[in-house]
Amino acid sequence: MVAVVLDPYDHRFHWDPYPFYRAAREHDPVYYYAPGGFWLLTKWDDVNRAFRDHKTFINTGALALEKDANEKLPYPLFIASDPPEHTRQRAVLAPLMMPGALAKLEGYIRQRTRELLQPHLPHGRIDFVADLACFLPMDVISVLIGVPAPDRDAVRGWADALIAREDGQIDLAERNVAGYMSLAQYFEEHTARHAHAPGEDLLGAMLRAQAGGAMSHTEVVGNLILLAIAGNETTTKLIGNMAYRLWQHPQQRAWLCDDPGLIPRAIEETLRFDGSSQILVRRVAHDVTVRGKQLRQGDRVGLCVISANRDADKFERPEEFDIRRGSRDHMAFGYGVHACLGAALARLETRVVFEEILRQLPQYCIEESGLRRAHNPNVRGFTHVPATFEAPR
Ligand code: HEM
Repeated sequence: MVAVVLDPYDHRFHWDPYPFYRAAREHDPVYYYAPGGFWLLTKWDDVNRAFRDHKTFINTGALALEKDANEKLPYPLFIASDPPEHTRQRAVLAPLMMPGALAKLEGYIRQRTRELLQPHLPHGRIDFVADLACFLPMDVISVLIGVPAPDRDAVRGWADALIAREDGQIDLAERNVAGYMSLAQYFEEHTARHAHAPGEDLLGAMLRAQAGGAMSHTEVVGNLILLAIAGNETTTKLIGNMAYRLWQHPQQRAWLCDDPGLIPRAIEETLRFDGSSQILVRRVAHDVTVRGKQLRQGDRVGLCVISANRDADKFERPEEFDIRRGSRDHMAFGYGVHACLGAALARLETRVVFEEILRQLPQYCIEESGLRRAHNPNVRGFTHVPATFEAPR
């Protein structure tokens, strides 16, 4: 019997969780994490079933893995609700998040990417996360929810404080709750400022829904908190993960430089191979058996998508990064009723960023000793990805 250890709160685990997940898939796929008191599903089939069976694996009361999250983080976020409440709120936002509606942002995304890259080009050095990726998604989501430029660093700082975890920290800490409450306070004031003149953006759509009775005030504030976090943290991390994986695979990077039309394939493969969303949370609505393990009503369950996306029963050569794969069967954006609302936006931002990086500094070289990680059980990626390149003459 192989002893399996999965510890999503261990900082060392975050550096390379994949061997641990593989052991879990092979020897203990429905894993009980006793210190946190929750289950972890690691096989593609089981994670996919949980996404599809949203009446058994529910989102209400499943805001975060931590047992006290619902009490300490009081605003209602629609990700932590179920139909029909979830359907009602998602319908307000969804039309504005379709690829067609987002296309008009491409010019802004490209211009902002160039502005962020520009000051670093003469020096031949850049940190792909700290100088670029931590700003761009926050700028874009800020445009959609009306956060003015001078406020964006503060909003990003509060989101970072909310997700940061000390090594081995299983419960929410004061600074996590403080980050959340600062976001709440900011968006309380923000909604009050805009309530009388809602624009055509996501904020305006929610304020109009509130005026028409389709969303409550606390839902609007909660969903702004959700968008500020979801629209920012995961895309930032995906860009860092992709810069790192392309550097590790120079031949594949060269293909992209020759044919930038392949970049969307590289994005899908990065999402599969090293996605930035590690574990999604559910609660069990009624007793259910998974691979012979009895899950009880009220239990918390983590759906380990980064493990599912390397399941050998689903993918050939799962441990190989291969942009030619062209598979969209990964669940990096979830699946089913809660599938990521921002997937099209994340794909657009990441494509434009890599079109610019690979055009302007195609031979970048990452300084491995300078890599630093964000530590959180749900979000996976770097805070620092320093790189050097030949400065243009
Ligand atoms: C690479 C970037 C991203 C990744 C990997 C990612 C991942 C995910 C995943 C896995 C879910 C499913 C959650 C669940 O089933 O419980 C989700 C939901 C969601 N995402 Fe993203 N996301 C990304 C970018 C974005 C962006 C840019 C936005 C901003 C607009 C966004 C907004 C949301 C929202 C609002 C939900 C909740 C949807 C619902 O409950 O119906 N995400 N995301």
